[in-house]
Amino acid sequence: MNLYKFVSNSINEKLGFDANLETPKNREFGDFATNAAMVMAKSAGKNPRELAGDLLPKISELDFVENASIAGPGFINIKIKDNFIWESADKKIEIKNPNPLTIDMDYGAYNVAKSLHIGHLRTSIVGDTFNRIAKFLGHNTISYNHIGDWGRSMGLVIAWIKKLHPDWPFFQDKFNSKLDYSKYYIPVQELDTYYPSAAELAKTDEEFMEQARVITAELQKGHAGYNALYNVFIPVSLKAMEDVIKKINIMPFDNTLGERNAAKYIEPVEKILREKHLLEKSDGAEIIVVKKDSDTAPMPPVMFYNSRGAVPYDATDIMALYYRKITDNPDKIIYLTDSRQKLHFEQLFRVAELTNLFPTENLEHIGYGTINGADGKPFKTRDGNAAGLNDIIEMVNNAARVRVLESGKKINNEITESIALAALKFNDLMHDLRSDYIFDPESVTSFEGRTGPYILYTAVRLNSVLKKSNVKTNNSKLVELSKDERNLLIGLLDFERTVQVAFDNRATDILANYVYDLCQLVNTFYHNCPILRDDVDEQIRAQRMKIVQIAFNTLSTVIDLMGLKIPNEM
Ligand code: ARG
Repeated sequence: MNLYKFVSNSINEKLGFDANLETPKNREFGDFATNAAMVMAKSAGKNPRELAGDLLPKISELDFVENASIAGPGFINIKIKDNFIWESADKKIEIKNPNPLTIDMDYGAYNVAKSLHIGHLRTSIVGDTFNRIAKFLGHNTISYNHIGDWGRSMGLVIAWIKKLHPDWPFFQDKFNSKLDYSKYYIPVQELDTYYPSAAELAKTDEEFMEQARVITAELQKGHAGYNALYNVFIPVSLKAMEDVIKKINIMPFDNTLGERNAAKYIEPVEKILREKHLLEKSDGAEIIVVKKDSDTAPMPPVMFYNSRGAVPYDATDIMALYYRKITDNPDKIIYLTDSRQKLHFEQLFRVAELTNLFPTENLEHIGYGTINGADGKPFKTRDGNAAGLNDIIEMVNNAARVRVLESGKKINNEITESIALAALKFNDLMHDLRSDYIFDPESVTSFEGRTGPYILYTAVRLNSVLKKSNVKTNNSKLVELSKDERNLLIGLLDFERTVQVAFDNRATDILANYVYDLCQLVNTFYHNCPILRDDVDEQIRAQRMKIVQIAFNTLSTVIDLMGLKIPNEM
C-alpha cells in the first residue's frame, strides 16, 4: 500500500481541501505533517495556529490517526496507529493502474560489428530498470534494441573486408548467390577489429573513405554480394550482443529491429514527406528543414538522403517512428541514449510533428551523462583505450574477488560474479542519470555503504533468518512495535510511492537511494530487535519474523526492479 497517498487523500477528503503532506525526517512528533492550516488560513481569515486548532479534531477523527498535534507556525503533525501500520504493511502490493500506457522503450541500441563499450552500460542498465518499473506500474511496454546496422559503419566494415580478401566472391562482378558462405565465417574477435581499423584508415585515406560511402549506398540499394557478406557477419554480431545481454542480466528485448528494418519503410515515409513538401534539395542531398523562427540556438536540417543516395542515421529514425506508429501505435516513445544525441532527437521530434507521425509530447529523449575515470575523462583501460563493456565487467569481477578474499568469506565464483554485477549496476542506478560520474571498481564493490553488495548482503541476511527459523508467520499478531520495527514498516510502506516517483521523474537514483535507506532500516532493526535468540518471547518473535518476511519480499521486489539477483549466501 502507498501509505503516503492514502494518508494524504484521506486528510484532503476530510478537510475538503488539497493540502501538502510532508514526511519529517525525525518521526518523534509525527509520521506526517500537513500544511493545511497554513495554506487555508488566509481565506479563512484566521491565523494558521488558530486554524490548526480548529482542524485538529477533524483530523483526529480519522480512524488511522493515533494523535494529531500542532507544531511551529501551524503545521499539524500526525501520528499513525501502530495497528494500522501493521495491517497495511501486511497487505499484498497490488498496483492498479487506471491509465495504462503503451510505451515503446528504445534503449541498448547496440551497433553491429562494433563491440560494446562503456557507453552502452547506462542505456542498458537504466533502460532495463525503467522497463521493469513501467511494467510493474501496469504499463504495457515494448522494448526495442534499435541496433545500428545500416549506416556508414557497415560500408567501412565491408570495405575493410574487401581490402583483406579482395578475392572473396562477394566482391566479384558475377556474384553467385547460390554459394555456400559457411567458409567465410568471421569470428567475433576478428570482426570487432575491422570497424576501428577501417575508421582509422578512412581518416587519412580519402579514397578508402569514398569507397566506404559508395559501398554503403550500394548495400542499401540491394547489391547482392555486399548483402550476402552482410548476412555473414550480422549473426556473429547479434550472437555477441545476446551474450552480453545475458551476462549483465537485462531482460531480453522484445525487438531487435534497428536501422535496417526501419529503412524498409523508406517509400511510405518519402511519400509523406513529399506530400507535405518537406523535402528540399541541397548539394545533391535531400534535407528536411526543421528550424523555427523562434529558435535561438542553431537547428541544422535533417538529412534524408545524402549526396550518394544513402539514408543516414537521422533518416532511419524517422522511418523507425513510422514503423512503430503502424505497429505498436504507442502512447509514448522513450529513447535512452548518451546526452550527446540531444540535438538529433530534437530534430527527430520536430520531423515527427511536421509529418504528423507523433505529437512531441509523446516523444521523450533521456540523455545520460558519461562514465569517467578518476581523471574526470571518459573511462579508459590501463593501456589507454576506450574501455569495452567486457573490460569493465572483468575489472569489477577482479575487484569483487579481492573483496571476497579480504572478507575471509567462503564465496564461490558464481556468487562473486553476481556480487560484482550488482556492484556495477547499483552504482550506475544510484547516480543522477543526467550527470557524468566517476567510476571506481574498488569502491563500488565495497560491502559497506551505498553499494550493490551492501544491498544484496542485507537481503541475504533477511533470507537466512527466514531459512533458519521454522516460525510460521501466517498467524503473527501485533504485540507492540518498537521504534525500529515501526520505522522499518513505515519505510516499507513507502515503496509504492517511491517506484511511482522514480518513474515519473525518470530517475533511478530515487529508487536506488530508497533501497539503500531501507537496508539501513533493516540493519538497525536486525541489530536492535533480537529474533531467534532464546530469551525472546514467542509472540514477539512471531511478530518480528513477520516483519522480516515483509521486508524480504519488498527488498526482493526492488532488487528485481534493478535487475540484480540475490545470491543464496554471502
Ligand atoms: N546505435 C546508436 C548509438 O550507439 C543509438 C541509437 C539510439 N536509438 C535510436 N532510435 N536512435 O549511438
